Amino acid sequence: MNSNIPNHVAIIMDGNGRWASMRDLERSEGHKKGTENLPKIVESFKESGVRYLTLYAFSTENWTRPQREVSALMNLLLESIGSQLEHLHKNNIKIIHLGDKVGLSVKIQKAIAKAEKITKNNTDLTLSIAFNYGGRNELIGVIKQIIKENIEPDNINEQVISERLYSKSIPDPDLVIRTAGEIRTSNFLIWQSAYSEYYFTDVLWPDFNKEHIAEALEEYSKRRRKYGSS
Ligand code: FPP
Repeated sequence: MNSNIPNHVAIIMDGNGRWASMRDLERSEGHKKGTENLPKIVESFKESGVRYLTLYAFSTENWTRPQREVSALMNLLLESIGSQLEHLHKNNIKIIHLGDKVGLSVKIQKAIAKAEKITKNNTDLTLSIAFNYGGRNELIGVIKQIIKENIEPDNINEQVISERLYSKSIPDPDLVIRTAGEIRTSNFLIWQSAYSEYYFTDVLWPDFNKEHIAEALEEYSKRRRKYGSS
C-alpha cells in the first residue's frame, strides 16, 4: 500500500485529438471519449485517498481552436454537469470552477454556479474544473485586484497573491500529471505549481486508467520533495 499519497493532484488531460485522429474520427470524438473517462478517474483518485483533484479542461488559449471543436467542448461541459452532478453530490464531492467565468456563456455560468452551490458542503474530495483558465490571465487578475485595493507595495507577499487566485480555497498541487507525451506546463497553475512534482506519461487521455494512476502515485511516493532546501 502506498503511504505517501499526494493531497492534491492536478491533471493536464492531453491527447484527445490524437486519440481521435488515430481512429479517423473527428477531434470532438476524442474529447467525448476523454469526458466519458472522467467518472472512473475521479473515483479512482478518491479511492486512493487524494483529497483535491484539478482537471485542466479548457484553457484561455483553446478559444483559437476551430469553432466546431470549441462548441463541442462547451457542450461536453454542460452535458457532464447535467448528467454527473447528482452522482458527484451523492459521493460527497465538492465542485469548484477555476477560471474566467465572464468569458463563458450565461448557460454555462449558471450550470457552474448551480454545481458549486449544491456541492459546497461536501468533504470527501474537491474536484476543481479549470475551464476558460489561464495561469497568466489569473495573475493579471490578481495584480488588478491588488491595485484596486490600494495595497501598499511593502505589504505584498505570497499570501496576498495566493488569497486572490481562483484557487484561493484549495491547497497548491503536490503532483501535476500530463498525459500524451508533451513535456510542458501550458499556462496551467503557474503560481500554484512552483514546488509541485511533475509526472509525464505517453498515454493519451482517453486511455488513461486506474493502472496508470497507480503508476503515477507510485512514482510520486518515491520523490523526495525539497522545497528549495538541501
Ligand atoms: C487536450 O487534448 C484536451 C483538451 C483541450 C480538452 C480536455 C477536455 C475534456 C477531457 C473534456 C471536457 C471536460 C469536462 C470537465 C467535461 P488535445 O485536443 O490537445 O489533444 P491533441 O494534443 O492530441 O490534439
